[in-house]
Amino acid sequence: MTKYILSTIAWVESIAKKEVEKVWAKIIEVRDRMIEFEGDSKTMIKVNLWSRVWNKVFEVLAEADKIDTFDKLYDLIQTINLKKYFHHSYPIVVKAKSINSKLDSTPAIQKITKKAIVDNITGKSWEKVFENSELEKFEIMVLLIWDKARILLNTTWEALHKREYRQETWEAPLKESLAAALVLLSDWRFKENFYDLFCWSWTIAIEAAMIAKNIAPGLNRYFAFERLLLVDKTLVEKELEDARKKEYSWEYKIIASDIDENIIEIAKQNAKDAWVYDMIDFRVMDFREYISPHPSPLPEGEGIATPLKWTLVSNPPYWVRLKDDNIESLYKQIDKLFRVNPELKGWVITNYLDFDKLINLDNYKKRKLYNGGELCYFYKRK
Ligand SMILES: C[S@@+](CC[C@H](N)C(=O)[O-])C[C@H]1O[C@@H](n2cnc3c(N)ncnc32)[C@H](O)[C@@H]1O
Repeated sequence: MTKYILSTIAWVESIAKKEVEKVWAKIIEVRDRMIEFEGDSKTMIKVNLWSRVWNKVFEVLAEADKIDTFDKLYDLIQTINLKKYFHHSYPIVVKAKSINSKLDSTPAIQKITKKAIVDNITGKSWEKVFENSELEKFEIMVLLIWDKARILLNTTWEALHKREYRQETWEAPLKESLAAALVLLSDWRFKENFYDLFCWSWTIAIEAAMIAKNIAPGLNRYFAFERLLLVDKTLVEKELEDARKKEYSWEYKIIASDIDENIIEIAKQNAKDAWVYDMIDFRVMDFREYISPHPSPLPEGEGIATPLKWTLVSNPPYWVRLKDDNIESLYKQIDKLFRVNPELKGWVITNYLDFDKLINLDNYKKRKLYNGGELCYFYKRK
């Protein structure tokens, strides 16, 4: 059995743990933004393909306590059989993180580690060193915590939140992994329609659709494990094939609306690339049209019920660009949206921390989260 570590975004470790358990990996420990588990190559491939809320999956190549000198670090790396993993032409980047440890100079740790890796792969015959810079890189990470060193191989390469479907936009949307976490943290169990009334690039809507249809988020992207010498290519093909067969059919609707239509063409393409375009019904609309007076702005039978019911997960703006509006009145209206639609199950994520002052907190539950390092709260209307 091999030991792996996966890194997660903060405060969603419980969901990440469930996702690891789903692929039958054995959990060793859950810590702040990190889960250690045991398994084999198949488990590692599955975890990479199916994880929605994690960042990277690392294989633990070696670990030891009391690594407090560079000689000890060098010797630890010599205990690994790196030739099993890499051809000597593979370019390898070394990253390092040191927390409360004697070896605390990151550049020096990286330099020694790189030397130790090259010596290990080439048998100290430096003339054999030839890193082909045209090949995709591999990443080895040295993690030192209280002098305990872990030498980690990144099996994922770019963080898992980077699904292939999303094109860059000129405003920073939510990361895909956080959007998926919000859908999973809501009580939506896919047996009813779903709304995002502030949808911008449709990230929440696309993740919701992928979850509802059981589409593996790692399909159609490149992973470092695909090129590791140790990993059997037929196993990779089989796992990809199995993942493609796991898609469900799904009969409900995802309704995504936003007041701004500027990004619509990009958002549509994102949804097409994620194979969920047909599941999302997009509308250009001010969410206040749902507040009052009822009936809804749409004719009966056009998909949106009057008043609103089902599940809403949204990421409202943190500042308001519209001239006649301000952030306080917008958030008061969000609260009103929930009050006038008692059957709507509503969740909003925001870093507008004054929301607390505008609402009766007895009507909400809130949970801490981070969006790109920024403190946010995910409010649930009770
Ligand atoms: C923080 S962004 C949402 C980002 C989105 N979650 C994503 O990942 O792309 C907030 C969105 O609210 C929209 N918005 C602002 N006022 C609105 C209103 N009155 N009704 C509907 N949408 C509004 C903005 O146009 C903006 O796209």
